[in-house]
Amino acid sequence: MKKISFLIAALFAAVYLQAQPLPQEVKMKQFIDELMSKMTLEEKIGQLNLPGAGDFTTGQTASTDIGKKIIEGKVGGLFNISTVAKIRSVQQVAVEQSRLKIPLIFGMDVIHGYKSVFPIPLGLSCSWDMALIEQSARIAAQEASADGICWTFSPMVDLSRDPRWGRIAEGGGEDPYLGGEIAKAMVRGYQGKDLTANNTIMACVKHFALYGASEAGRDYNTVDMSRHRMYNEYFLPYKAAVDAGVGSVMASFNEVDGIPATGNRWLMQTVLRDEWGFKGFILSDYTGINEMIDHGMGDLQTVSALALNASVDMDMVGEGFLLTLKKSVEDGKISLDQINSACRRILEAKYVLGLFDDPYRYCDENRAKTEIYTDANRMAARKTATESFVLLKNDGNILPLKKDAKIALIGPLANDRLNMCGTWTVAGDFEKAISVHDGIKMVNGKPENITLAKGCNIVSDSLLETRIGMFGKATGWDSRPADIMIAEAVKAAEKSDVVIAVMGEASESSGESSSLTNIEIPQNQRDLMKALLKTGKPVVMVLFTGRPLAIKWEQENVPAILNVWFGGSEAGAAVADVLFGDVVPSGKLTTTFPQNTGQIPLFYNHKNTGRPLAEGQWFSKFRTNYLDVTNEPLYPFGFGLSYTTFSYSDLTLSKNSFKPGEKIDVKVNVTNTGNFDGKEVVQLYIRDMVGTTTRPVKELKGFEKILIKKGETKEVTFTIDVGDLKFYNYDLKFVAEPGDFKVFVGGNSRDVKEAAFVLTD
Ligand code: BGC
Repeated sequence: MKKISFLIAALFAAVYLQAQPLPQEVKMKQFIDELMSKMTLEEKIGQLNLPGAGDFTTGQTASTDIGKKIIEGKVGGLFNISTVAKIRSVQQVAVEQSRLKIPLIFGMDVIHGYKSVFPIPLGLSCSWDMALIEQSARIAAQEASADGICWTFSPMVDLSRDPRWGRIAEGGGEDPYLGGEIAKAMVRGYQGKDLTANNTIMACVKHFALYGASEAGRDYNTVDMSRHRMYNEYFLPYKAAVDAGVGSVMASFNEVDGIPATGNRWLMQTVLRDEWGFKGFILSDYTGINEMIDHGMGDLQTVSALALNASVDMDMVGEGFLLTLKKSVEDGKISLDQINSACRRILEAKYVLGLFDDPYRYCDENRAKTEIYTDANRMAARKTATESFVLLKNDGNILPLKKDAKIALIGPLANDRLNMCGTWTVAGDFEKAISVHDGIKMVNGKPENITLAKGCNIVSDSLLETRIGMFGKATGWDSRPADIMIAEAVKAAEKSDVVIAVMGEASESSGESSSLTNIEIPQNQRDLMKALLKTGKPVVMVLFTGRPLAIKWEQENVPAILNVWFGGSEAGAAVADVLFGDVVPSGKLTTTFPQNTGQIPLFYNHKNTGRPLAEGQWFSKFRTNYLDVTNEPLYPFGFGLSYTTFSYSDLTLSKNSFKPGEKIDVKVNVTNTGNFDGKEVVQLYIRDMVGTTTRPVKELKGFEKILIKKGETKEVTFTIDVGDLKFYNYDLKFVAEPGDFKVFVGGNSRDVKEAAFVLTD
């Protein structure tokens, strides 16, 4: 069932993963030995320095005097700088004016596409389509490399179960197994088969580790977690990226086990390098080394030495390495060998990227003109967006809409281009994004059928709007009184056959430094929705969001809800494709939607506890539950509707008992029982019934997304082997324990068929 891919970056793998040195490896070693023999200590430390170029900033500290430092050999790479012309001119300074002419590595936060922007990663994950996800990274790499970039700070694979945390938008949801599959697909997409090719870029898995588990969902906050949980859950996606051959790893801002990740030798050396065999380079996050001063780990010299000792090779923005490592060598706090290793790893990355052969390998003006934001790439982004949308409700089959319907297009995001792409759109052009209004005009055909009204602002409070709009992407505050705006929207609704209410969050309501304590729809949007519902017209809510929202009221009152995340540069067209039935929705949630904020963290693969509630029960004294709300989510992990329906039958196992070395085939029939051809994500979960440690009530172990024509039945087969039953036991040994297991198959984590089997010795 686990498809292990060998499609990793070939040269990188050849260099790093083989036991016997290959000719390329020998050649690279000779080259770097020779180069390093000429380098002064200062020049070696210079390679460890990564200033930000300032085209896009994500912190309060900025780098200065970069040109001078490059000439002096005090810079190893630059990030968040774009366009071939700029990159070429900076590279020229490095290779013509610095003493040793070492090329720079150019990084960027290419997170979900470059100019052709794909859905935010949380949305991408809801496609459950690894080929599409890989393709999105491939296209991002092609476009970025055509514009001078050879390194991306992606994939972000931080598992998160806390939608208060704004950065949940950047990851692949709550599941370790799915997170791992996505991590592998993204690394394959970016790095391709050959990192030296000029259209592949080095990936950087981040943020190692556990960043998604910050207390109370507040960004940068403390994390405290058992090693058992780290190994069995949160570590898995990072490890998958390492197994796929990722070239670099970024340390997280948070502490892990009482020591900030950036200075945590157990994490970086013992786990990442010694246990997982990672051979690439590790960089800090933005000023992550300096921030250890505020964590209370010592002064700049101490924390810089701590990071290098922990095996961090590159210092992003903070320049603690640049300013203090020489002194730390003199003071005996770190060794020359450690500096040599860090420098070597960075030079190796430049080598495998082919920069020593041709420092301008990624600076081809022609490619920049012809390979970026092409029609084909935009079409791929549009198709991917349609696959990421999750239909949460569709009472009375309001959707799909008729193409000649008279539409009232209402809401703060109805006619908005700036908020289509979502957080971490560094290169994309917001002004050019397709709004929902643009998209509906493209698909609906008759512009005169559409009446537009904003209806309300994106949030109730203009101060909050300013905070969200920090990067200039908010919708713009409309100062008309709320009742006037609502009245205008109601008037439009009354004239229409159907109301499309485009609501939710602004782009920057999620992402970095965008945590919330209340994840409900803002009151002013709810007031608008109430007024629209009162008209008696059918209302479809198109929900833009970077996190699961607590939309219990909307679920109870609005007849149809299509969750569209932030779909990217083509979002509006993709929304129209789905609303009008050109594409049948097939996305499934990769993150649980709670009923309210107080239920957080709520996730499907929780433990049973010693006092579980009986199924379907709400409150029972002295059981694990709440007085005021059931334990159930609003929408469970894996959930998503289609315009058609699917039924599951005939779950069979090839045997009921097996031993290591053997396999069990799990077969199920899935029938399309509705009126549309549609895709279904068939999901396989297991439960280890008895263990030496407690085990989750369900764990995803396989999935398949398949097209089933209306009326057709398809048999789906999963194969379970002992590897699928393994977990890290109390001593952190990866074992499968003989005993009883359950297997579940269904279209989401809640509605499943089940069977049982035994693993014998
Ligand atoms: C973020 C990283 C990002 C870096 C560079 C930081 O603030 O945490 O995810 O890669 O900035 O922009």
